[in-house]
Amino acid sequence: MMRAVEVAEIGLFCALLAALVPGSYPELVTLVQDRVSPETPLLKPKVMIAILARNAAHSLPHYLGCIERLDYPKDRIAIWAATDHSLDNSTSMLREWLKEVQGMYHYVEWRPMDEPRSYTDEWGPKHWPVSRFNHVMKLRQAALRSARERWADYILFADSDNLLTNPRVLTLMMAENRTLVAPMLESRSLYSNFWCGITPQGYYKRTPDYQPIREWKRLGCYAVPMVHSTFLLDLRRDATRDLAFHPPHPDYTWAFDDIMVFAFSARQADVQMYICNREHYGFLPVPLKAQQNLEDEAESFSHTVAEALIDHSIEPSQYLYNPSRPLDMMGFDEIFLINLKRRLDRRTRMLDTLGTLGIQVTLTEAVDGKALNTSQLQALGIEMLPGYKDPYSGRVLTRGEIGCFLSHYNTWTQVVERGLESVLVLEDDVRFEPRFKNRLMTIMESMKQADLDWDLMYVGRKRMQVSQPEHSVEGVNNLVVADYSYWTLGYALSLQGAKKLLNARPFGRMLPVDEFLPIMFNKHPNAEYMAQFERRDLRAFSVEPLLLYPTHYTGEPGYVSDTETSTIWDDEAVSTDWDRQHAAKTAQQDRIRPIAQNSVTGDTPPPPPAPLVTNSELPRGRGSRTDTRAHGPLDSHTNGRILHAQSGKRDD
Ligand SMILES: *[C@@H]1O[C@H](CO)[C@@H](O)[C@H](O)[C@H]1NC(C)=O
Ligand SMILES: *[C@@H]1O[C@H](CO)[C@@H](O)[C@H](O)[C@H]1NC(C)=O
Ligand SMILES: *[C@@H]1O[C@H](CO)[C@@H](O)[C@H](O)[C@H]1NC(C)=O
Repeated sequence: MMRAVEVAEIGLFCALLAALVPGSYPELVTLVQDRVSPETPLLKPKVMIAILARNAAHSLPHYLGCIERLDYPKDRIAIWAATDHSLDNSTSMLREWLKEVQGMYHYVEWRPMDEPRSYTDEWGPKHWPVSRFNHVMKLRQAALRSARERWADYILFADSDNLLTNPRVLTLMMAENRTLVAPMLESRSLYSNFWCGITPQGYYKRTPDYQPIREWKRLGCYAVPMVHSTFLLDLRRDATRDLAFHPPHPDYTWAFDDIMVFAFSARQADVQMYICNREHYGFLPVPLKAQQNLEDEAESFSHTVAEALIDHSIEPSQYLYNPSRPLDMMGFDEIFLINLKRRLDRRTRMLDTLGTLGIQVTLTEAVDGKALNTSQLQALGIEMLPGYKDPYSGRVLTRGEIGCFLSHYNTWTQVVERGLESVLVLEDDVRFEPRFKNRLMTIMESMKQADLDWDLMYVGRKRMQVSQPEHSVEGVNNLVVADYSYWTLGYALSLQGAKKLLNARPFGRMLPVDEFLPIMFNKHPNAEYMAQFERRDLRAFSVEPLLLYPTHYTGEPGYVSDTETSTIWDDEAVSTDWDRQHAAKTAQQDRIRPIAQNSVTGDTPPPPPAPLVTNSELPRGRGSRTDTRAHGPLDSHTNGRILHAQSGKRDD
């Protein structure tokens, strides 16, 4: 009886529910009885990464390291890889890598080509004859076809020397929700992987939009007529069916070049190209000239890696045998790298960078100003130079500055004790100019040829005398007689120079080391300081243009000073948060007026303003790559930034 009532009640309940939700009766029974699992997340879109490697043995380890670090599920990535016409070991390297990683990726497709090793009509590996453009276009088309056949949602083209240092680059580009989008890549010049303007003939055209985007003064995702080298294509978009690298569109009349053919194809298909610079995504080398060789290319790429290392810890692929570059000391008897033990970050970066550049250094532990106490200073006989005051803040010497002085002093002592004929002293926050090693060695060699009597040579510095040009040295290119300068980022020192510095007995009248040096070469503007040192005959020079700069300038991301919490020299109870890097004195230093700029004959272009290179200003070579891809802006903007930068000295 009771049971019948219960059954009737449940039946009624279900009937009521069914009435409320019409047509849902059978499912509802299930719902009421079982736990309902929530929906699982969607799998990531399927991406194919196209890798075309030719003579890329120098770049593959770092390039593939960046691909491995992409923060994207590898089982949603397919790799399409091809090599062609390589003189170097590219094919076996890529083969080895693919063998190691293929289990992690969705699948890999491999198009190796061992022979021939060059095109019959090319001058050298950096020359682009028509046959080469044609082959590259066909390879890109094959990658695109494969991606379509495999139903990939996206295809990422990334040239085999482009370093994608931002692991989120794939996700970020997808989030832009554009058919064809490129992450803006940076180089040491204005060169990048996009154009803002295009001529009716399809060549690079200079426009006012380019520089603000390239220098991150405007941030966003911009419609542009050309992106190349690295870009993401959303194959789910209908219009992409009409895109092709090869054969060129029937109406195509522009020069025969893969990037121009593709840009034309995009235009015909109504696919807009976009360039994004919301974040920093990676680096690319500046293209070389048709006459340059693989050695030049490896050298240029090592500089790209050095630039990337400044703010990113990038390592070569762990799945590839990577013979380390042989190291040498550039003809010096020793290269000292001064580093505070607690600044492991800087030590690691510098050692990685120097390894990339092929430079062998000896680590020398910096004296930590923070750890110095008064009794130690007394034991060393350290007294501040009577009357010394920082010219801008008015404050006295700090413990940080004493530590910095002692660190340099210790290397000078070693030079004399060991009888080293010439050494290079480097601090640990320096940035190297392109071809640093070659250029410095050339200068050292011609100093020797010219039989120059020298004691000290600045390799990086801040020029403080900016009203008169300095004198160039006869018979030695890229060298001037040093006038009043700051910083001790990097300098060459001779045995004779080290002796002069020690003989000055600076402990009893100490001032910051970079103020001490100009006294020693008799160019300090303060006569009272100078008067306290009898012999001021240091023969000091400077390379010009400079070959070293600080990695970060005041206020830039990544800038860290070691002196912010220093104490004054004779009382550790009096702390100073005053930092010379923030000082007004260097902010006040104007850019060097054109009339005072050193004029030297050299192999590097003078600092800007230099005109942007446009194609109409370039002779049209025989379809050479330098006439197309490289006629993006190539002039250096870094020097300009440095001239404008406010920066001070460092004093660990
Ligand atoms: C070429 O690459 C392969 C695979 O990485 C390596 O085993 C071999 O030693 C390399 N050969 C040369 C000459 O570098
Ligand atoms: C992406 O763009 C398409 C149209 O082009 C639009 O329908 C879609 O909602 C967009 N997706 C997102 C996440 O914005
Ligand atoms: C100064 O430092 C030295 C070495 O660290 C130490 O031996 C000494 O006791 C310290 N002196 C004072 C007064 O703190």
